Amino acid sequence: MDHDEAPVLDALADYHRLDRYGFTPPGHRQGRGADERVNAVLGGALREDVLATAGLDDRKSSNGYLSKAEELMADAVGADRAFFSTCGSSLSVKAAILAVTRGEGELIIGRDAHKSTIAGLVLSGLQPRWASPRYDEEQHIAHPPGPDEFERMWQRYPDASAAVVTSPTPYGTCADLRAIVEICHSRGKPVIVDEAWGAHLPFHDDLPTWAMDAGADICVVSVHKMGIGFEQGSVYHLQGSLVDPVRLSQCADVLATTSSNVLLYAAIDGWRRQMVQHGTELLTDALALTERTRAAIERIPGLHVLRDELLAEEASHDLDPLHVLIDVQGLGVSGYQVADWLRAEHRLDVGINDHRRVEAVISTADDEQTTKRLLDALEALPDAAESMPAPSPVSLPSKADLRPVMASLPRDAFFGPVETVPAGEAAGRIAAEQVTPYPPGIPALLPGEVINSAVVDYLRTGLAAGMVIPDAADASLETFRVARSLPHPE
Ligand SMILES: Cc1ncc(COP(=O)(O)O)c(C=O)c1O
Repeated sequence: MDHDEAPVLDALADYHRLDRYGFTPPGHRQGRGADERVNAVLGGALREDVLATAGLDDRKSSNGYLSKAEELMADAVGADRAFFSTCGSSLSVKAAILAVTRGEGELIIGRDAHKSTIAGLVLSGLQPRWASPRYDEEQHIAHPPGPDEFERMWQRYPDASAAVVTSPTPYGTCADLRAIVEICHSRGKPVIVDEAWGAHLPFHDDLPTWAMDAGADICVVSVHKMGIGFEQGSVYHLQGSLVDPVRLSQCADVLATTSSNVLLYAAIDGWRRQMVQHGTELLTDALALTERTRAAIERIPGLHVLRDELLAEEASHDLDPLHVLIDVQGLGVSGYQVADWLRAEHRLDVGINDHRRVEAVISTADDEQTTKRLLDALEALPDAAESMPAPSPVSLPSKADLRPVMASLPRDAFFGPVETVPAGEAAGRIAAEQVTPYPPGIPALLPGEVINSAVVDYLRTGLAAGMVIPDAADASLETFRVARSLPHPE
């Protein structure tokens, strides 16, 4: 295929060149009707915000701009089909889960799944069968479950519809996808990979295995995370014959907006062309920059950049080095404090932050200038840390505490009768809500799970130390929302 083309992007340029105008949504008419104070900030974006059908394309979409762009994407990454979505991987993951089910049954899932996967369980009514992540009790990090764990799960739950794996995780750690796919396919079962953090993987040989190369059936990527595109731009890829493409796109259709933002499509389209034509060199440069940055951070007293720990036995199968995970506990401060300090004093934001770490993710947009800002800030950190208060201690759960006991379907607990109980009385009750430290967005508690006191302590001490938990019904965690009429497991 001709990867010089970018059909959606070019159609958008043509829209203006041909002086098209629509008496249709969006009512702002490419910014014409927006308040000047809005246009002062958003004018560029509003100009490109046109209706997809009967706007960018004609009313029958007869030019097929979007489908051509999707074909080019599939060709670029070696998938049979690619579907663009403007509702993030959050939608794509749910669509993938719905597509492999018949509305009931079981799904084998790593418990380190993102909250959007849990939302997929609530919507689908499926029974999760949790594959245990490899849990590093020293680092308190969950890595994707190994192939042996998936084998064990299939032996116990041979009728499950599919397996769902999160890889890379938000820490950049990866599952042994080839082996997991082989295990699932030997039973004729499809594998969905939540590869939200892996959009760039197909475009460089030194990066961890791309799910389609590993033989996965569906994989979902967020272009806005490790690629170059607007927030919410996502692509889900499909190959093989285990999942019906029509069902998959129809499942996305029941969840999606009917007013897709063409800016997102155009950016995904242009990024695919950029990656096909320049991806290798851009990612080679980003990887080299990351290595220099990692080495420079490692030289700063009190800081340590994780790599070997993440790749040890019983840890991650592989690592995306662009995730620069920095342990700050040598300075006697928490990741929460460092994240706040970086923003307040250096106008820098970082991704993951927890009781002892912060994570900076390097992208192909970064260069020596941007990483110098990070390095200059981190070099000032040891002195600044001396005047930070001692961090509030977080009561970390053990591996055993993290073995969830499911007492009901997530859907039943979520939609059934609920009541609110004080935190001290929550243990032993069935959670009716997700409670998710963000980032990374992996629920510590989810609907249908029996609450244990170690997890309650972790969340409450975490909150006091600076953890952000955006989805709890009671933001103070003084109370928890639990299922009312479901039987008490104790
Ligand atoms: C592993 C994982 N899956 C899915 C998502 C959802 O992606 P999006 O933000 O594109 O909706 C995230 C977001 O952080 C994630 O970390």
